[in-house]
Amino acid sequence: MKDIRLGIVGLGRLGYIHANNILNNIKGAKLVTACSLNNDELKKIKNQNNNVECYENYNKMIDQAQLDAVIIVSSSNQHYNHSKIALNKGLHVFCEKPLGINLQECLDIKKIVDLKKNLIFMLGFMRRYDPSYIYIKENIDKGVIGKPILFRGYSVDPESQISNSIKYAKYSGGQFLDMAIHDIDLSSWFLKSEPKTIFSVGGCYSYPEFSKYKDGDNVTSLMQFKNGSMAFFLAGRTASHGYNVETEVIGTKATIKIASAPQKSLVQILDNKEIAKECFQSFQDRFKQAFINELQEFINCIVQSRKPEITIEDGIQATLIAQKATESFRENKQLYF
Ligand SMILES: NC(=O)c1ccc[n+]([C@@H]2O[C@H](COP(=O)([O-])OP(=O)(O)OC[C@H]3O[C@@H](n4cnc5c(N)ncnc54)[C@H](O)[C@@H]3O)[C@@H](O)[C@H]2O)c1
Repeated sequence: MKDIRLGIVGLGRLGYIHANNILNNIKGAKLVTACSLNNDELKKIKNQNNNVECYENYNKMIDQAQLDAVIIVSSSNQHYNHSKIALNKGLHVFCEKPLGINLQECLDIKKIVDLKKNLIFMLGFMRRYDPSYIYIKENIDKGVIGKPILFRGYSVDPESQISNSIKYAKYSGGQFLDMAIHDIDLSSWFLKSEPKTIFSVGGCYSYPEFSKYKDGDNVTSLMQFKNGSMAFFLAGRTASHGYNVETEVIGTKATIKIASAPQKSLVQILDNKEIAKECFQSFQDRFKQAFINELQEFINCIVQSRKPEITIEDGIQATLIAQKATESFRENKQLYF
């Protein structure tokens, strides 16, 4: 079987990782082309593999290169446009989260995906491909914790990355769509229901720069789901100790959790003051394996002509909830779905 010919758009913080994974870790695929607005990023990938054809113009790449599929890791406000162009050209699409920055974009993409039944469309909710999250899901589905009552998720970027976060705020769609969306997706996945109400609060506690975009540096929401369960999540940019992702699901019989401290390994460093444990410092480190697993699943789905578990409806639901969460935060009131 021939390798699946891939093009990638976006070679920034995450795009570079995806490109490297395709070059080194993904079976059955070949990175044929790469596109970015940033010439230095293109040079960097070309230095790594001289066979990758580089483009500054996405339309040109899609028109000229003989591709089977495209990996979309451009800024969130470009996902809709880039997905639409690739699908209409008859290419399979792997698109980073979010599916779109508003509900209308998501519904428009669904229309095209529904028409192009032979194409694979997959969204990058990579936590679903992380071994610990898979294990939690299996245990919940087996009934180990009884009936799930509460999902709690914290996702806080390291403060050391704050200048990047501020720079990206213009394109991100806000904290709920950019950061909390992983917890939003997990809450629906674990609680197996849809939200009924939501109330969000938050603010710019250290960085007023976010207020320009009607955003906060730390925001939180409480949701009630139609099946009576609850979800609470915090998204922020100011963790002093590292990349803080922690998740807990409380059930009627037991509680299950991952990483109540974002500990990198079992290592402890003992000196004359303390016993220290190192924390993850970036999403790239924490979800290294999940990023490989999700792309491998995309390729396997193409080769085996089967649909991925993450559906377009999951992407629509996540954007809808993130949009409502943002609205609730801005209007400071509880909203209904
Ligand atoms: N799954 C995750 O945990 C995770 C983590 C980080 C980022 N992301 C998502 O990945 C996407 C990229 O994030 P990032 O942090 O790498 O951003 P970034 O700003 O570092 O990089 C953006 C890239 O997109 C390219 N780009 C933007 N507009 C373009 C256009 N019109 N044509 C061609 N190229 C264009 C830029 O040149 C750049 O290479 C975002 O949608 C973000 O939400 C997901």
